Amino acid sequence: MPSAKKQDKFTLVSELAKRRGFFWPSFEIYGGVGGFYTYGPLGALLKRRIEDKFRDFFIRRFGFFEIESSVVMPGKVFEASGHVEHFQEPMVECLKCKRKFRADHLLEEFAGMSSMETEKLSLDEIRKIIVERDIRCPDCGGEFGEPKYFLTMFATTIGPYSDAVGYGRPEAAQGIFVEFKRLYELSRERLPFGVVQIGHALRNEISPRQGLMRLREFTIIDLEFFFDPEDTRCTPLKEVENETLRFLLGETRLKGSEEITELTVKEALEKGYVKVDWQAFFMVLAKKFMASLGVPPEKQRFIEKLDWEKAHYAVQSFDQEVYLDRWGWTEVSGHAYRTDYDLKQHMKFSRVDMRIFKPAEKPIEREEVKITPIPAKIGPAFKKDAAKIMELLSKVDVKELERSFSTKGFYMLEGFKILPEHVQIIRRKVVERGKRFIPHVVEPSFGSDRLFYVALEYAYQLKENRVVLRFPRDIAPVQVGVYPLVSRDGLPEKAMEVHRMLLNEGFYSEYDESGSIGRRYARADEIGVPLGITVDYQTLEDGTVTIRDRDSWSQVRNKIKALPELLHGYFRYKLDFEDLGEPVET
Ligand code: GLY
Repeated sequence: MPSAKKQDKFTLVSELAKRRGFFWPSFEIYGGVGGFYTYGPLGALLKRRIEDKFRDFFIRRFGFFEIESSVVMPGKVFEASGHVEHFQEPMVECLKCKRKFRADHLLEEFAGMSSMETEKLSLDEIRKIIVERDIRCPDCGGEFGEPKYFLTMFATTIGPYSDAVGYGRPEAAQGIFVEFKRLYELSRERLPFGVVQIGHALRNEISPRQGLMRLREFTIIDLEFFFDPEDTRCTPLKEVENETLRFLLGETRLKGSEEITELTVKEALEKGYVKVDWQAFFMVLAKKFMASLGVPPEKQRFIEKLDWEKAHYAVQSFDQEVYLDRWGWTEVSGHAYRTDYDLKQHMKFSRVDMRIFKPAEKPIEREEVKITPIPAKIGPAFKKDAAKIMELLSKVDVKELERSFSTKGFYMLEGFKILPEHVQIIRRKVVERGKRFIPHVVEPSFGSDRLFYVALEYAYQLKENRVVLRFPRDIAPVQVGVYPLVSRDGLPEKAMEVHRMLLNEGFYSEYDESGSIGRRYARADEIGVPLGITVDYQTLEDGTVTIRDRDSWSQVRNKIKALPELLHGYFRYKLDFEDLGEPVET
């Protein structure tokens, strides 16, 4: 008999997710639409826990801001940001069945090209490869038409005015940049500071086929960190400079290799592989964050984007990738050095000054020299050309003018002879108290839905042929299950009392009395409940319960009244399972 085909984790996780209420494709009653997913009760809880953990890792500890801006934004914002020009993907349409495909993805699938190769192709080059390799529609075998660019932002109109173009934001970052002036004031006009936005973003993907990994509506987590590029003090860097990061460097990729270069943060900065200290700092934090979601460091890497792969706003960019069973190395976060690009663009388009003032350590005194034309002399001397000369004089180099006056007694300005009596040279002392500049930005940006899927896939494990979701305890959607050993003799009432107490203490507790205790443990393991509390006959005698560990299936015993403190300690990683009570023979 042929052996059953091994299902990959994506299939297994998606099946479990649907059955137990983590996530499923949206609008199924209408046939579904690719790229939209609904989070069920457990999924919504898990996603929120991951986002709250992000807040703890990246916001609370550093005193950064979190804001919420709108999803629909005026067209001007994305004209300024460059998205209208750059947020386009190459697309081909099947001439027979009219299905549309991402052209670069087709070449990856059917011409064996890597994304590193396809990303730099022009439309003409794509067309040639499709013709040479005779690539046809994977659905009906039809021929493809001319490749075209497709704008992957959702466009709309704002209100009933067809010329008031708006777009669904493809990133949350712009909602931060456009509010920079206010945010800077709120930071008490001090750099550096960070601002985060966790919210929905929209990308009108051409043909999304990767479940939660490529959505048309998704949750983005953008952290924009504003700093002074001349201020080289990166205070928290000292804490992480000996941490190692696994890089797939651009220079390695260009040799066609995937070899990992493991470097300490200090080495990566000294060798110039990472341009900005702060960027390295956030990369370390991102590595630790992924580890805290259950992804071991050896299943993570930072891949340097090549020039033609980088987003238009970045001068340097690394993707943090983790290894997934079906998709291989997959991006979970991007780390871009955006320089002053975005604020500069918004300054240009809005004409609002985005510069900030930096006081000098010591005021600098300097002499300002200015040429001031004297109209009473220039008018009669140059008549109809007087206005033009006045204008031209404002652009003349003072030193050259003075040199010419002292050597020749005049200065020739585009054929006009300027004499010393035509101008006044005014010298005045000015004191410079500082300078104006636009802050630079490094941006770590995460896809919340990807974090969610990755946490779920890494949690998915088998023990004795049963599924156990081994979530790190602080992200488990349900924290405790409470069970009466049997559903009689007053045990359910006692167990309900314990459950209510735990709810009042702020725990996510679930009460379950249906089926055998073994089946209830199995159901809880399958959704990753870290602790199971069982009320048995001994409980009625001495007020103790058993506490069961999801991962080892061992049990300890302790008093009901000790539970709140013990559980708070356990979920904050202050206590281990063994600290929760006396071991019980099972
Ligand atoms: N803001 C990050 C991105 O658009 O990918």
